[in-house]
Amino acid sequence: MRFEDLDAVCNIEHGVFPNPWPRVFFEKDLESSNTVAFVFEENGQIIGYAVGACIDVELHITNIAVATGYQRRGTGLSLLQKMEDIAIERACNFAYLEVRTNNVAAINMYKKYGYDILYTRKRYYIDGDDAYVMHKELK
Ligand SMILES: CC(C)(COP(=O)(O)OP(=O)(O)OC[C@H]1O[C@@H](n2cnc3c(N)ncnc32)[C@H](O)[C@@H]1OP(=O)(O)O)[C@@H](O)C(=O)NCCC(=O)NCCS
Repeated sequence: MRFEDLDAVCNIEHGVFPNPWPRVFFEKDLESSNTVAFVFEENGQIIGYAVGACIDVELHITNIAVATGYQRRGTGLSLLQKMEDIAIERACNFAYLEVRTNNVAAINMYKKYGYDILYTRKRYYIDGDDAYVMHKELK
């Protein structure tokens, strides 16, 4: 993910999340050497992206999204797999993330790819929603 991708990324972000990240969140992440961020392109068009941070041996997945109209075609799993591959190259052995407890699509995706629910973090989101913390050992 590059700064010039952020118009397309923010468009997707606003289309899929009830409380989208402001553009500055992406900009700050792109300035950090811990960040792993990339986009998924189809026919030259950005249709998805993933953002995470590798800190010591832990990968924290902070954002994964696929544009409305392009979902349920395996792109989410591809993004997750790529994120893990990069994290393993950077010596991470553990991945974790927060997900809204009512986000069935994302929870199913993470479960399908080997993530387990560790615990619930009450009122984690700014609108009061709870989060599951999910994790996976990376090989
Ligand atoms: C979650 C998200 C990234 C999944 O992307 P995707 O490209 O549609 O996912 P995939 O096609 O790779 O699907 C992988 C698995 O996830 C699950 N899944 C995906 N969408 C689902 C849905 N609408 N309902 C139930 N399960 C779903 C299924 O288990 C699916 O496997 P299957 O199609 O073989 O049944 C996408 O729905 C999205 O962008 N949602 C909005 C943003 C978001 O919530 N991000 C996660 C924040 S933690």
